[in-house]
Amino acid sequence: MEAHLHMWLELLVRWAHFIVGIAWIGASFYFNWLENHLQREQRPDGVAGDLWAVHGGGFYYLKKFAVAPGELPPTLHWFKWEAYATWISGMTLLIIMFYWNAQTYMLKPGSGGISAGAAIAIGAGSLLASWVFYDLLCRSALAQREWLTGLLLLTWFALLAWILSSWLSDRAAYIHVGAAIGTVMVANVFRVIIPAHRELVDAVSEQRTPDASKGLNALQRSRHNNYFTLPVLFIMLSAHYPATYGHPYNWLVLLVFSLAAVAIRHFFNIRHLPGFTAWPLIPAALLLVGLILFTAPGTRSLESSVDVDTVIDTDTVLEIVHQRCSNCHAAVPEFAGLATAPLGVELDTSQKLELHAQRVFHTTVTVRTMPLGNLTRMTEEERQIIADWYGSRTAGEP
Ligand code: HEC
Repeated sequence: MEAHLHMWLELLVRWAHFIVGIAWIGASFYFNWLENHLQREQRPDGVAGDLWAVHGGGFYYLKKFAVAPGELPPTLHWFKWEAYATWISGMTLLIIMFYWNAQTYMLKPGSGGISAGAAIAIGAGSLLASWVFYDLLCRSALAQREWLTGLLLLTWFALLAWILSSWLSDRAAYIHVGAAIGTVMVANVFRVIIPAHRELVDAVSEQRTPDASKGLNALQRSRHNNYFTLPVLFIMLSAHYPATYGHPYNWLVLLVFSLAAVAIRHFFNIRHLPGFTAWPLIPAALLLVGLILFTAPGTRSLESSVDVDTVIDTDTVLEIVHQRCSNCHAAVPEFAGLATAPLGVELDTSQKLELHAQRVFHTTVTVRTMPLGNLTRMTEEERQIIADWYGSRTAGEP
């Protein structure tokens, strides 16, 4: 029952996180689009541009002011709770999924040294450290050089992925890099962008010129947020793809994917400009193709050492699987905290094992994400037997 309630709690928080995340990123994409598509013309009433749109059965007409309207409207809409709610629900999810069962989900198998408490402290500390580093960087003179700032940020997050994955489980390492970037984005909204909006609003109501530096800082931070979006979304999805976070060079996979994502985001940013060409899509495509090749199985996995005549029978493997996997992967798992087999993968009979042969091979031999955290202490010899079994099964195939 406890496992069942935990699952529902996780499901509901994840659902909420997803919804508010869409609302936040959706609004931010929309305002970017507005900014890029305004019909710009300076008018005497202080309007810098306008735009017509048709949507949902009606016409919309929007204006943007160069600085601010002469006086404040009675109702002014702010966009901030989407961002805050995304962070709050995301942190809640991090606690429910990783910190709650830190022994299982946070620790790296075989790293031996650190305790669950230390793993949580490292994970949570990395979020704070990322913000401090980023904020100092933005306030320094270096921030005037955009390319350099981008390079330093990429280096920081790649380094973070590398350090975290030598201490934490691979999934925990990835999710913390995602949470660190997300924290920077939300802190940008909370500490810089919203205060700049407040300054604008105050200036209008006090009939004075707003402090321009705050507006410039906010612009810089929201440009950064714009480029952070796609890498973060990749990290959030990556948990479903062990070939990414489970790769021995998972920090490099993250770095290369993020570069491609930034290039794709750049493509969307420059698309409306005169003289536009789609050049950013070329490096993005090359990087992604490179990743597909780099993460291909086989290049670094155990090779099947059997010749075609030796056949490892499924029962031998079933015995291993019973010992190492079935306390989680059974119709009714014995492992504390699980109500049903994870992702519906049941491995308690030879038919089910045959059915999932490819996935079993992939998770135990190629990416080695299973047994989860190697809690059940699967040995190298056993992985080799699975490799051989899978090799002999597929040997006859074209
Ligand atoms: C301690 C519990 C536990 C043990 C032991 C365990 N798993 Fe898993 N397994 C999980 C969890 C949790 C997931 C879901 C991971 C996710 O959500 O991505 C999973 C997912 C999987 C998947 C589906 C994910 C995919 O990428 O296809 C396969 C296949 C799998 N496990 C195979 C195995 C095999 C084979 C073993 C034994 C060698 C094993 N597992 C041992 C907990 C366990």
